[in-house]
Formats: sequence, C-alpha cells, structure tokens
Amino acid sequence: MEDEKHIPVLLDEVLRYLDPQAGETYLDLTAGYGGHAAKVLERTLEASRATLIDRDQNAIDYLSRQKTLQGAEIIQKDFLSASRELEGQKRQYNLILADLGVSSPHLDNASRGFSIRYNGPLDMRMDSRQELTADQIVNNYEEAELVKLLREYGEEPYSRAIAASIVANRPIADTHELADIIAHAVPRRRTHGPASKVHPATRSFQAIRLAVNDELGLLQAALPLWLSLLVPGGRIVVISFHSLEDRIVKQFFHEYSGDRYDAPLKRLTKRPVQASEKELAYNPRARSAKLRAAAKIKTTERES
Ligand SMILES: C[S@@+](CC[C@H](N)C(=O)[O-])C[C@H]1O[C@@H](n2cnc3c(N)ncnc32)[C@H](O)[C@@H]1O
Repeated sequence: MEDEKHIPVLLDEVLRYLDPQAGETYLDLTAGYGGHAAKVLERTLEASRATLIDRDQNAIDYLSRQKTLQGAEIIQKDFLSASRELEGQKRQYNLILADLGVSSPHLDNASRGFSIRYNGPLDMRMDSRQELTADQIVNNYEEAELVKLLREYGEEPYSRAIAASIVANRPIADTHELADIIAHAVPRRRTHGPASKVHPATRSFQAIRLAVNDELGLLQAALPLWLSLLVPGGRIVVISFHSLEDRIVKQFFHEYSGDRYDAPLKRLTKRPVQASEKELAYNPRARSAKLRAAAKIKTTERES
C-alpha cells in the first residue's frame, strides 16, 4: 500500500506556476508523500536546498526513506511553528508550496479515524502527538459548541439536529457509530434524495477534522509568514480542498496584491485553477482542489 500512497494533485499546474529552475530553493509546507517535491526537485536539482515539512509521523518516515529526496531538510512540525522558526532564522525560498488537508493514506488507514468508509477510533489527528482528538469533541463538547462547529466548519444545514443526536447518544465509540447517528439525524431526503451519493455525515466529519487539527486557524496565521519566507521574484502555490480554506487564501492573495503601488505580491491566477477531466479520471480526489498562485514582486519590477 505504501507505494500507491498519494497521487499529487494538479501536478502539471503546480510545476507551471512554481516554474522551478536549476539551483532554486524549495519549501514544501505539506510534503506528505513527496509526490510534488520529487518533481520539483527533478528541476531544481538541489535537494540540499529544499525544506520539507509535515506534521504526520508516517509521512515524515516515508519522506526520509525516499532516495530522490535525500539531502533535503525534513521537519516534523505543523507548518505554522515551522514557518515561525524558519522566519526567525531569516530563511527565504524561491519556491513555496502548500497542498493543504489530509493525504490519501490518512483516509485509507482506518486506525487514524478520518474515514466514514472504514471503521476506526474517533481520532482524526494529523499529528498523533497532539492532545485534542475527535473523541473529545464528539463526546465532551457542549451541544451549542457542536452546533457552531458543524455550522461554521461543515456549513452543515442540519447542525442542530446532528448535535442534539450526538449528545443524546453519548458515549459514541467509533467512526461508524458516529456516521450512523448523523445519518439518522438528517432528513430522509438527504440520505435517499439526489444528493445521497455523498454520505450524510461527510460535512460533519470534515468539520470535526478541521477543528481537531485547527486547519483554518493555522492557515490564516501562517500565510503572512509565507510571504516573508519568499525571496523577491519567488513563487508560491497554495492548493485547498475546502471552500473556507480557499476563501482565506483568496483574501490573502487579494489583499497583498491589490492596487497599492507597494503591493508585495502579483497574482498569477485570477481565478482558482481546478483539475482537468483527464486528471479527474485517474484521481477523483482532485475534484475539490483549487489552486492559487502568486509571485513576490522584485523592487526593480515595481520601479519599471
Ligand atoms: C494533501 S497532502 C500533501 C501531499 C503531497 N503534496 C504529496 O505530493 O504527496 C497534505 C499533507 O499535509 C500535512 N499537513 C496538513 N496540514 C498541515 C499543517 N498545518 N502542518 C504540517 N503539515 C500539515 C498532512 O499531514 C498531509 O501529509
């Protein structure tokens, strides 16, 4: 299973916008199973000038074993702490990539508790050293907190009914029990109607996952650091899988690339780039991926 790990999404587009050149430095903030990193390093030819970050132990172990990535600096941390540290060291990179969210192995490994399909513990931590788990949210959060979480992070229209049902059925033991409780809490048209191909617990699972890993908070706080970590002329690509994530990235790029004469960024994508039909045929996971890219403006460019 290890080697069919994770097909990198929007690979051609990542290479087009990063446009890696020989000798350039590379920061991969969510290196995962190294699919994008290996292709970027084929072009920069400088593994020793690359920094690969991930907060997941299995991803770090896998990256460390890859011959093509040998020589790269590999760091197990969340990207906000890692970015703070790199910024403190006054490091800068020509190329920065953040391919957000979970990897296929997260979803396929039942014991990590991310999946609705396979039964597993209520875990959902990307970094298993972290204290907060899905179990604590599902079994301990107040009903009002659950409603807020499901509504804000899951954009779940039945947040009240689902939260009430979760609280009434505590303690909830595992992902299948949670998925069943949610499915019974939503109206039948959601489970049997036109949208029924998507499991009725999908939005709730996503919301709980975002909360366990503080995914939106870390992204919001890290984006300004990524700007400082980019050399003038450097390129940054961010791929998101959730509308709330994409909104944060869009607003950030928009704010820093505005009409101001001293705007530090130039957007390379006006609209988010999405996967082609060709890619979707072999990687359905790419369906919700949205890529945005920008370049840091050189002072000389601004003057001309
Ligand atoms: C979509 S996968 C990246 C796949 C990678 N681009 C590849 O080609 O294999 C996202 C990865 O980012 C990691 N991740 C997500 N959020 C993170 C964060 N805040 N800090 C560090 N790693 C994170 C996850 O553990 C996961 O391995």
